[in-house]
Amino acid sequence: MKTVSFVDMVDGTREDYELIFAEVAAHKARHLPDQLMDTLRSMIGPTFGYRIDRYRHSLQSATRALRNGEPDEMVVAALFHDIADPIAPENHSAVAAGILKPYVDERTHWIIRYHGLFQGYYYFHHLGGDRDARDLVREHRWFDDCAAFCAEYDQNCFDPDYDDMALEEFEPLVREVFGRDTRYPMVDLA
Ligand SMILES: [Fe+2]
Ligand SMILES: [Fe+2]
Repeated sequence: MKTVSFVDMVDGTREDYELIFAEVAAHKARHLPDQLMDTLRSMIGPTFGYRIDRYRHSLQSATRALRNGEPDEMVVAALFHDIADPIAPENHSAVAAGILKPYVDERTHWIIRYHGLFQGYYYFHHLGGDRDARDLVREHRWFDDCAAFCAEYDQNCFDPDYDDMALEEFEPLVREVFGRDTRYPMVDLA
């Protein structure tokens, strides 16, 4: 395989970086959707006491979104809203939102970013917290949308009797969304 001329990045040339970025783009196109779906599959098994595992919870979320006529990117966002649970359990909303961010619109990103806070409405008070903690963002233009996401595609997606669609049925949507050009320029400070 052709390689760059440098050892230290400071010595790299335009040709070097064009080579790297072409390889990275090709690798992403070949592997990113599979990597994400494999991460979802890694959640098969542990239930933490829920009546289904996190894999089925994710499928159930995406299935409900699809059957409710949501656009492709919201179905995919539902599928991956807990994708970061295995690697970032304390801030899984932010990490999942970060993964989706380049490929979805701002509203979808915001909903996934704050879904953990909004889910608290259903249980924070049972653990000594404030179920209305989501009111910190009450005035936000997408408050109602995030509340609806959690009501319809998250808090109700722990049902062992629901007929979830299979991951393979979502695969074309996953490939479409993660095959999109990134929405962001090289520098993203947000
Ligand atoms: Fe979550
Ligand atoms: Fe969830």
